[in-house]
Amino acid sequence: MSGMEIVEVDPFDAQLLDPWHAVYLEAELAAGEGVAAPWQLEEVRALLQATVAKHWIRGYAGVVDGEVVSAGWIRTPLLDNVERAELMIQTAPAHRRRGHGTAMLEHLDRVARERGRSILVGETAWRYDAGASGAGEPGAEFARARGFELALGDVKRTLALPVDDAILDALTAEAAERHTGYRLRSFVGPVPDDLLDGWARMVASLAIEAPTGELEVEAESPDPALVRENEAVLARQGRTKYNTVALDPTGDLVAFTDIAATIHEPGRAYQWGTLVRRDARGRRLGLAVKVANLRLLQSEAPDIAVLTTYNAEVNRHMIGVNERLGFVPVARLGEFQKRP
Ligand SMILES: CC(C)(COP(=O)(O)OP(=O)(O)OC[C@H]1O[C@@H](n2cnc3c(N)ncnc32)[C@H](O)[C@@H]1OP(=O)(O)O)[C@@H](O)C(=O)NCCC(=O)NCCS
Repeated sequence: MSGMEIVEVDPFDAQLLDPWHAVYLEAELAAGEGVAAPWQLEEVRALLQATVAKHWIRGYAGVVDGEVVSAGWIRTPLLDNVERAELMIQTAPAHRRRGHGTAMLEHLDRVARERGRSILVGETAWRYDAGASGAGEPGAEFARARGFELALGDVKRTLALPVDDAILDALTAEAAERHTGYRLRSFVGPVPDDLLDGWARMVASLAIEAPTGELEVEAESPDPALVRENEAVLARQGRTKYNTVALDPTGDLVAFTDIAATIHEPGRAYQWGTLVRRDARGRRLGLAVKVANLRLLQSEAPDIAVLTTYNAEVNRHMIGVNERLGFVPVARLGEFQKRP
């Protein structure tokens, strides 16, 4: 028994939110330099303070003798994937192996069940050279010991910026030959109104179009209002997005890619989604949108020195694109799942 008291975190109460986030951050950073990619305090505060249609989210603090020792989160999608609950658990390094992680998991499991969820998922990061299974790594061992299975293995890669213009020019030219008649459009920040419907549809299908391994996941709701809702949260989080889309000869949006940067982590940016609609594949549009977006980022945010991306280890095609841009593997991320 861990003897830990578990309290819900009020995101408007900095006296609890801040130490709770500090435990999360310390636990994530303990995986090694560059291994995890934790969210900064103000990004988390804004996320938890926002009430949105898309999901329900709560944080819980595990407290022993007045000190937060364990951090737990749960997010349940509300409009799709209504069987799923996404969990995160972090125990401060000095307090591990005393059952606190298990106690937090039991609590989150209870909350998930009360909300009618039967599929539990969680992510954990480890060093690249520790291997694909994560054997011996705290998060992976904990997850397996508590009945979760590795459903999808991802690799984290980073790219030092700027990428030389000559490399971008060569890749642009190579791709352009294959997608004549298609138009690329780049923009910073919110999605322009005329692209909104197409963007909403593409982004909603990303969850099932990218490799999913053993994960039980369905497409997200393609409602344009959700794109605007998310953009409002991003603004409060201090995040800026850099985006590029491809339009087919009829003007339909058939590919997108987006990169996010945050004022709370100067010098870094994160590659988020990239997707080419099935019927438009084979035209190097994935490479084309990525290269154009990198140019946009490099011209609009020249202070960004490191770009981070995650790919499923089995996603040979996207990894091929990333390697040509110069990304190198630095860590792994396991997506674990527990089914009823
Ligand atoms: C994973 C983590 C939350 C575990 O927290 P914890 O409080 O140490 O967990 P517990 O004490 O309840 O451990 C329960 C069991 O998990 C397994 N386990 C946990 N850490 C382990 C490790 N480093 N090596 C091997 N097994 C481990 C053991 O079976 C352990 O039982 P035991 O101590 O009786 O052998 C903590 O290491 C952490 O914060 N890691 C970084 C974040 C992360 O990866 N979170 C997990 C997914 S969201």
